[in-house]
Amino acid sequence: MSKAPARDAAPSPPGAPGASGDWKDLLALRAEFPILQKTTYLVNHSLGAMPRKVHDRLREFATLWETRGIRAWAEGWWTSPTETGDLVGRIFDAPPGTVVMHQNVSVIMGLVASALEFKAPRNRVVYSELNFPSVMYVWEAQRRRGAEIVMVKSRDGVTVDTQDFLAALDERTLIVPLSHVLFQSSYLQDLQAIVRRAHEVGALVLADCYQSAGCVPFSVQQLDLDMACGGSVKWLCGGPGAGYLYCKPALRDRLEPALTGWMAHEHPFAFEKGPQKYAHDATRLLHGSPAVPALYAARSGYELILQAGVDNIRRKSVAQTQRFLQRVAAAGLTSKSPKDPARRGGSVTVEVPQGAAVVAALAERDILVDCRPDVGLRVSPHYYNTDEELDRCLDAVLEILRTKAWEKFAQKGTAY
Ligand SMILES: Cc1ncc(COP(=O)(O)O)c(C=O)c1O
Repeated sequence: MSKAPARDAAPSPPGAPGASGDWKDLLALRAEFPILQKTTYLVNHSLGAMPRKVHDRLREFATLWETRGIRAWAEGWWTSPTETGDLVGRIFDAPPGTVVMHQNVSVIMGLVASALEFKAPRNRVVYSELNFPSVMYVWEAQRRRGAEIVMVKSRDGVTVDTQDFLAALDERTLIVPLSHVLFQSSYLQDLQAIVRRAHEVGALVLADCYQSAGCVPFSVQQLDLDMACGGSVKWLCGGPGAGYLYCKPALRDRLEPALTGWMAHEHPFAFEKGPQKYAHDATRLLHGSPAVPALYAARSGYELILQAGVDNIRRKSVAQTQRFLQRVAAAGLTSKSPKDPARRGGSVTVEVPQGAAVVAALAERDILVDCRPDVGLRVSPHYYNTDEELDRCLDAVLEILRTKAWEKFAQKGTAY
């Protein structure tokens, strides 16, 4: 199993020595994903394909419960948030004992916010208007606790100018909750520059790596992130209910989340009355009983990513998205995706009229993508997708536009 490389930009260009050999290995993993036999699955930025071994993992969970009853807690369930955290943490170079699992990013952001004091003059939360909205809702709600929100505007609706971001940071900044890769356009933010400036002014950085982990190589240690989080639904192919939170140990030991519970207590089974006595390890950032089945289900996806190697995944992703964008342009369509692969995550967008209806017409042809406001279709090959599948998708889009096959879906909204 390969370790995630310490970088957050594009790898060497496609065609570099060894690239095609690595691809062959990656495509060999197609057999692990049953849905690929019938479906052109290019919606990996939203819901990654299910590894076939998830059946075994969920059976393992159920069998343990069925046969061992209450003893299951001591035989894997109790430690599942930290053990699963250690496994997913290897994908982004988090040391063992620094990652815990929660249900989703929103809960994680809420938990981190609950550990902060919003006292002027250092009470500012700085984020960009292109963050995932759920993240904004959590931080906006902190206004009632004294937070001052600074929203960095995008100049083009696609990217966030790094200089604009840096200019928004100063000694009043408490925390910067930002996306590594933006969910709509797949713009890859310059985390390094933002972390450096944030630390110069004494602010914390919480990176939402949902759209990068498992697709874009990065190291939380090299980037010197204070905290990083994400979920497993997308590129990690881990399914819902398995969000991860990395926190630097030196910071963690100072955090006292108000959103807490007995799993975060230093002696949970002492059932002490009164105030929390926070644990002195990663469990400090837990709360109540974990979503155990989700954590069992998530592991197969992580193991496959580790087997594939994020560096290999990225090399293939850059080559495939570059090739797809060239074909999109040649077909006379436009894309708002960043042209520079070093600043692009794993998705590419294609502007089409009637996006939701086009998505539905594609789904009728068993080709799965989605669409989002302002950018159009989002198309995302993962390590198990072939060039032919991308060609099939674009050919179908062109046919649907030419024949107006989208018309019969025009009244329907998008369901995903
Ligand atoms: C960047 C990013 N953050 C967060 C989320 C979702 O947040 P949550 O885990 O709270 O559902 C998504 C997409 O669903 C996303 O793309």
